[in-house]
Amino acid sequence: MRHLLDFRGWARTEVESLLDTARVMAEVLERPVKKVPALQGFTVATVFFEPSTRTRLSFELAARRMSADVVSFAAQTSSLQKGESYKDTLLTLEAMGVDAYVIRADAAGVPHQAARWVKGVVVNGGDGRRAHPTQALLDAYTLLEALGSLEGKKIAIVGDLLHSRVARSNVELLPLLGAEVWGAGPPTLLPQGLPGARLTSRLEEALAEADAVMVLRLQKERMEAGLIHLQDYIAHYQVTEARLKKAKPGAPLLHPGPMNRDVELEGTLADSARSLVNRQVHNGVAVRMAVLYHLLVGRER
Ligand code: CP
Repeated sequence: MRHLLDFRGWARTEVESLLDTARVMAEVLERPVKKVPALQGFTVATVFFEPSTRTRLSFELAARRMSADVVSFAAQTSSLQKGESYKDTLLTLEAMGVDAYVIRADAAGVPHQAARWVKGVVVNGGDGRRAHPTQALLDAYTLLEALGSLEGKKIAIVGDLLHSRVARSNVELLPLLGAEVWGAGPPTLLPQGLPGARLTSRLEEALAEADAVMVLRLQKERMEAGLIHLQDYIAHYQVTEARLKKAKPGAPLLHPGPMNRDVELEGTLADSARSLVNRQVHNGVAVRMAVLYHLLVGRER
């Protein structure tokens, strides 16, 4: 892969190779000295035009664990505030010698544009409602840890699918690994179609015998007023202990974060033994190490 923008055109073998590398990186992170020289001499820039905690920090940690230099662009304190464009911002970083750009933007397609503007490699750190490929990779990695294999497994994705780049990337990725993906939410929060997923407004249908359940955040920042009534949403679509009884016993629970506790997910469930939320965050570092490694060093692999 030249860049990581989404999973269009990806083969299962490419995904598996990346996840194999992530497992090696996870072993590195278990050592007393959690550092390897793999990216010595490379510079990675995190360029976030939209807020983030997990994605930006775990990419920065991942790059540092492999001895890369890291520069962190902060939109609020940058010359973006003086009217500088995204393109000129990226070309400015290129002039400083950046090799890899992890880009998040509120508008879909910015990382794809960036891949045409700069000579370095581009990783999509989330663009609008379109794609968040490294989130899906860490979700797949976490699901594989929990379930062993995704072949024939039913994965239910619940909530605001309409605005969710996490859902779109998971729906591209998980079927490549053999999973059957269901999406459930209120009719106003379901997209018209989502190739790769079966969509339903009946939550119990998606949860029935599910091997794992992924809960999505209500994306208020992208939501038109009046699309849902919050109390109705909580009453009918919040994932609760009682509703989760429809899924397979002990089916693990995922959430990409950040979470609206007691809105899309019952707070006690988020902290329960079946919640993999913190494991997802933990695995994100190894997965992002693997992505940077494949893009900057291991392209021929
Ligand atoms: N899951 C996720 O993308 O979280 P952040 O917005 O904190 O990066």
